[in-house]
Amino acid sequence: MNNHPAYNATIIVTQELEDELGKILARYPKDKVFLVTEQNCDKLCVPLISKTPGFSNLQKVVIPSGEENKKLSSVETIWLFLSQNGADRKSLVVNLGGGMLTDLGSFAASTIKRGMDFVNIPTTLLAQVDASVGGKTGFNFNGLKNEIGVINQPNTVLIDTRFLQTIDSKNFISGYAEMIKHGLINSPEHLDEVRNYDLKKPDLEILRGIIARSVAIKDSFVFKDPNERNIRKALNFGHTIGHAFESSALESGHPILHGYAVAYGMIAELYLSHKVCNLPLATLNKLSDWLISVYGKYPIEERQFESFYQLMTHDKKNEGTRVNFTLIPAVGEVAINQNCDKALIFEALEYYKQFSI
Ligand code: GLY
Repeated sequence: MNNHPAYNATIIVTQELEDELGKILARYPKDKVFLVTEQNCDKLCVPLISKTPGFSNLQKVVIPSGEENKKLSSVETIWLFLSQNGADRKSLVVNLGGGMLTDLGSFAASTIKRGMDFVNIPTTLLAQVDASVGGKTGFNFNGLKNEIGVINQPNTVLIDTRFLQTIDSKNFISGYAEMIKHGLINSPEHLDEVRNYDLKKPDLEILRGIIARSVAIKDSFVFKDPNERNIRKALNFGHTIGHAFESSALESGHPILHGYAVAYGMIAELYLSHKVCNLPLATLNKLSDWLISVYGKYPIEERQFESFYQLMTHDKKNEGTRVNFTLIPAVGEVAINQNCDKALIFEALEYYKQFSI
């Protein structure tokens, strides 16, 4: 998609994944190609690519499934496997899985022997439109999500909607939130096509085109600012308050999926956009109604506002104690580095709260 010297990842949305992967594998010595995946994917997704030319050369390491395994010991399992099986700087790592797996496998490949080539094959909608693209790698540490990591771009991301038959509808709708976000920050046309997509009868053919356009939006922000110094922050829309929803749900023992938390976060941050950047009230209310109709009601209480606020102040995207937001003055436009005070953040949570009951 682009050819920037600091950012040269190739993103391929394809129906011919085996051909594309086969071409890549052919460029590496056959004893130097590795597959990193997790248990569920090993059962459900590996069979979909096992006819790839050169696939039998891949030495496979499988880690346990689930976000709770996004941890240092899983990275160690991958490092050890690569180290004991002859990986060197001419090797290739193929990461097959959802965002947890591509983040972990990319981190392991980026750090062993000072870094080797890696390809991501995302198998969930969230990973296809967001996590596997843009080079954020890492794992959870000290109770904090993605606390340890580096930004390092994959050589190639291969996206095939066939894998989406392996995920349930909640995980599908979770990934859908990131496509909504791409429309909100960059393109009213994309927002319309995402909104018009029939979630009750998902058509993977139609979805392929929508994913390609959604990922191109993400790619355009990463291309301009791979290390998130400025405009890449646009991609954080909905995430500052969204992460507070996600962490609070996790702490309560009833976790919610990332995209659901981002959707609730987007409602509150649309309110901030209205107050700070003049997003029209009618747009705010229409979008909030729609988001609740897709993501359902997730009630919160006023007594939780303080702990949500504390979670926001600990977000690693802040500098110092200010809470940094990306807001949208209009659908398709962004304003990065907007700082909002506690009173306004409480107002935004109050706005969300009235939709959630
Ligand atoms: N998930 C947002 C980013 O990659 O920057």
